[in-house]
Amino acid sequence: MGVACQREPEPRRPPQAPPPQPAPAPQPVAADTALTAKLPRDSGPFFPSQARTAGDKPIDVAELNDVRRCAGCHTEAVRQWASSAHAHASFDNPWYRASVESLRSEVGFEASRHCAGCHDPVLLMSGRMDQPLAPEEPLANAGVTCLACHSVRAPTSDGNASYTLSTDPVPYPKPGDAASLQAHRRASGSEAPADASLVRPREGALLRG
Ligand code: HEC
Ligand code: HEC
Ligand code: HEC
Repeated sequence: MGVACQREPEPRRPPQAPPPQPAPAPQPVAADTALTAKLPRDSGPFFPSQARTAGDKPIDVAELNDVRRCAGCHTEAVRQWASSAHAHASFDNPWYRASVESLRSEVGFEASRHCAGCHDPVLLMSGRMDQPLAPEEPLANAGVTCLACHSVRAPTSDGNASYTLSTDPVPYPKPGDAASLQAHRRASGSEAPADASLVRPREGALLRG
């Protein structure tokens, strides 16, 4: 009809958002499908820290703690380390101490192993983290010692102290003995073998559910 053709065109309306729908009711999650952390490798005896020793064998704690031995030959490295954050990562650091002691009083000593994987590897590996600690105890002031880094064999990239420490005694160089120097460099330095057999990988994402 002609009349209809002469009508003013309707102003264009902006597109309308669909009317809000009620949010879907939350579905109950069965206990066995609840989200749980799925870490790249199994946890070891120091859970909830991911740190481990090779074969979960006990480590020589005195050697792990022994910076003085290294100082006999690596004076400059030890001098630099002594004023570093790594040397003061433990209970002698008042901020760390206040923070970790508060955690220990709230959720217990074993939970604080998580912190020790990075801050107190010597306490962790000695089992002392599971007990009350006086801040003046020597092991509680160890920091991240030379061998806490130079004995690492099998790190994984997820962080969270996911390393494995060698439990083999450190070979030290003897004067005039090239083979012993070679062994020392291989065990301590960049040539240290990254031992893939010590990593027990898990497949998939960091969460399963
Ligand atoms: C008896 C002397 C001696 C002692 C003790 C000693 N080192 Fe060494 N270290 C050497 C010599 C010599 C070299 C080879 C020269 C160099 O690289 O400086 C070396 C090399 C190294 C390297 C470099 C390896 C490389 O080639 O990549 C590291 C890392 C290292 N030592 C760590 C340590 C640590 C950690 C300790 C203590 C647990 C220690 N050393 C104790 C003498 C010693
Ligand atoms: C994955 C390794 C890792 C773990 C696990 C870890 N930390 Fe740390 N933390 C660090 C590093 C690295 C620093 C230094 C950061 C910087 O200086 O930028 C640090 C710094 C700190 C500081 C500041 C210290 C200062 O001198 O300012 C406190 C406090 C602290 N951490 C407490 C804790 C506590 C408590 C836990 C356990 C609940 C914990 N950390 C677990 C690696 C770790
Ligand atoms: C936080 C980890 C960490 C700590 C703690 C640590 N180192 Fe190292 N160190 C390294 C890394 C990483 C390198 C470089 C390795 C490379 O380039 O292959 C290195 C290199 C070295 C080297 C060879 C290069 C150089 O500067 O001569 C020596 C020797 C060494 N460290 C000795 C020590 C000694 C002794 C201590 C204890 C006082 C110590 N390190 C503590 C991680 C660490």
